[in-house]
Amino acid sequence: MRKIVIAGNWKMNKTPSEAAELATQIAALENNKAEVVICVPYVDIFAAKQAIAGSKVKLGAENVHWEASGAFTGEISAPMLVECGCEYVIIGHSERRQYFGETDETVNKRTKAALNAGLKVILCVGELKEERETGKTEEVVKRQVIEGLKDISAEQMANVVIAYEPVWAIGTGLTATNEQAEEVCAFIRALLKDLYCDCVADSTTIQYGGSMNAKNAADLLAMPNIDGGLIGGASLKPADFGVIIAAGDKA
Ligand code: 13P
Repeated sequence: MRKIVIAGNWKMNKTPSEAAELATQIAALENNKAEVVICVPYVDIFAAKQAIAGSKVKLGAENVHWEASGAFTGEISAPMLVECGCEYVIIGHSERRQYFGETDETVNKRTKAALNAGLKVILCVGELKEERETGKTEEVVKRQVIEGLKDISAEQMANVVIAYEPVWAIGTGLTATNEQAEEVCAFIRALLKDLYCDCVADSTTIQYGGSMNAKNAADLLAMPNIDGGLIGGASLKPADFGVIIAAGDKA
């Protein structure tokens, strides 16, 4: 059976003291079956780690550089994240692709470095509004998955989660319908079968992200190919995040 992963992407929110408070509240939420992850700003990692100690909540970062060390001012490497207690890292988020020049090639370099350092990767893919409107969704998602996973082995796929996040649904309150989200997640799974094998396709967790909230999570997570959520805004509200986790536990 596939692991259900409910991950919060805090984006550029919360100072360390605020992070400690929020992570403490999240650590206190009931959580049975679903794997709960909080991906936090680099400077919040230490505070969040202390706050979730002793709970089942896992820690993640929101990006990582592909080199282990060197003259890359302002960057953070995978071994640094591992030593700070991160288990997960988000790679290729659409905000990084849109605003920070992320390409499929750099997504792939980061993914390889993260996996080699022992991190689990949440690889984000998803189409822009105009790409959906012009019928290019599958073409774009296919390219992002193939390029992002270039030279990643079937064994390494055990540590990869794919997050389908249609860009038009992020932070807009416009959620993909259950059917739209399911259709693309199923498409990604079929692609994994072509790229690897049935066993990788059947065992890879594929999340939906984009305005997932306390109201729509249960229906999205009930779809057969949606195995979790990557949640922005609602992950900053413990009560709402708790409802989503509970939906993940039942999925
Ligand atoms: P929202 O849940 O705020 O739409 O953000 C989704 C997202 O980008 C998660 O990575």
